[in-house]
Amino acid sequence: MIGWAAMHERADLVTDALGRRGNLPAETSTFLGRDADLAEVERLLRQESLVTLTGVAGVGKTRLALKAAGRLHGGAWLAELSGERNGALLAHTIGAAIGLREQAARPQGDVLAEHLADRRMLLILDTCEHLIGPCRALVGQILRAAPGVRVLATSREPLGLPGERVHAVRPLPVTEEDCDAVRLFRERALAVRPGFECSDAVVRLCRRLDGVPLALELAARRLRALTAGELLDRIDDRFSLLAGGGRTGRHRTLRTAVGWSHELCTPEERLLWARLSVFGGTFDAEAAADVCADDRLAGVPYLLARLADKSVVIRNGQRFRMLGMMRDYGREWLHEIGEDRVLAHRHREHSLALRRGMRHPRRRDSGDPARRPESSRPHPGPGH
Ligand SMILES: Nc1ncnc2c1ncn2[C@@H]1O[C@H](COP(=O)(O)OP(=O)(O)O)[C@@H](O)[C@H]1O
Ligand SMILES: [Mg+2]
Repeated sequence: MIGWAAMHERADLVTDALGRRGNLPAETSTFLGRDADLAEVERLLRQESLVTLTGVAGVGKTRLALKAAGRLHGGAWLAELSGERNGALLAHTIGAAIGLREQAARPQGDVLAEHLADRRMLLILDTCEHLIGPCRALVGQILRAAPGVRVLATSREPLGLPGERVHAVRPLPVTEEDCDAVRLFRERALAVRPGFECSDAVVRLCRRLDGVPLALELAARRLRALTAGELLDRIDDRFSLLAGGGRTGRHRTLRTAVGWSHELCTPEERLLWARLSVFGGTFDAEAAADVCADDRLAGVPYLLARLADKSVVIRNGQRFRMLGMMRDYGREWLHEIGEDRVLAHRHREHSLALRRGMRHPRRRDSGDPARRPESSRPHPGPGH
């Protein structure tokens, strides 16, 4: 394995036709916190040639990847993949990003791998979750051919390659006024409201937004028209509240950001996501199965693990939790498929039985309306 420092002292870093040694965009807003994440990403990049940053929509994967790459000497190359539909043009997109001009009759993956074979560079593949299979295949091919290439991927889900090191990016901590989440909110608030002062309402708002940077930024933008207290009062309807303009693409609104994750789930995973929204706090796989499984939804532990892989739920040891934005999205959908009352009832039964010390409390009778076959139809999700 090549030492990271040595790698960047070498003169044979990739330069494109214009002589550039990288194409990282300049930062256009302040970057906050993440010292431990940056140190960890750097450490992982020293050890392995593929590091994947995972995490929920808007948590800061891209920003962290760019920051980590920017701190390394020698530059890095960014290929942004969110616009890539099915992966057929993946190698072309990456080739174009690093300035590879060659158009050959051979498969572009081979051309790319050959081009990179004796080069040393850091390649950021940003937004891989909708192209897991194609990314896995191409990154595997590149890394086999090019021992001097390091790949830093961002994805809601790991690529699943041997040797891949995964770093889960968590929301910014929300503790008190001096925490990173509140500082980010304040920074963005000052841009729309000069002289903005943080209050207790801001801390509570940041907590309700779970410290997710995208949500904090969208909320701060609303300070043009509302006070922090008013935002807090309306946060139960976060998807309407955080729909304000200015952005484009997947991060335009909180709903589109979460909806993109929803689209990448199977019908069974979506159904479990909706049903899990009845849990207010943390839960384990047994509780999830007890409340959510029935003859329409089997294999809950497996599906739960899949939802954790896809950053829909956060795993913490043996327990799981859902961020508020994921829970609210699930709740809306649960309501749309007409299961909210049944699931609330199941959850209540489960909690009561647990309090009585029973382990597998719920017994499903055949009159359970959640079994109605019509609600098992695939559904595009709330607000679509
Ligand atoms: N540490 C941070 N400091 C400042 N802004 C951040 C930070 N992390 C994320 N952001 C901002 O929050 C938004 C969402 O972050 P992004 O990296 O795009 O999320 P993801 O890639 O996980 O969907 C972006 O506008 C980004 O600039
Ligand atoms: Mg991103």
